[in-house]
Amino acid sequence: MIGRLNHVAIAVPDLARGTEVYRSALGARVSAPQAVPRFGVTVVFVELPNTKIELLEPLGESSPIRGFLEKNPGGGMHHVCYEVDDIIAARDQLKAQGARVLGDGEPKTGAHGKPVLFLHPKDFCGTLVELEQA
Ligand code: CO
Repeated sequence: MIGRLNHVAIAVPDLARGTEVYRSALGARVSAPQAVPRFGVTVVFVELPNTKIELLEPLGESSPIRGFLEKNPGGGMHHVCYEVDDIIAARDQLKAQGARVLGDGEPKTGAHGKPVLFLHPKDFCGTLVELEQA
């Protein structure tokens, strides 16, 4: 069902500092920050030859990554995103197997303008999984 790894998302308390780590220490190409208010984050994209890393900083008081950063104050891996060809077919197949889809179960438009869904970490080896229709 799943295809390519689209990105790995890392929550950070300080996006400027995170950008500096990837740009200067690791020598990666990092995009300008982009606010995504509907997801409560500001994001930068780190472009790697085979995938992307997204650094996420909380945006707004009700940001869904605030709780994660309270538990992981220095930052940490927040989710992995896998591409699927048909997100509705993937969702229905996973739900039929008992997997939990977060939110209302309907795809939302992600930071790349494509439909995305999130799957409960307890059903996927302790990792929050994002599916994106490629
Ligand atoms: Co993501």
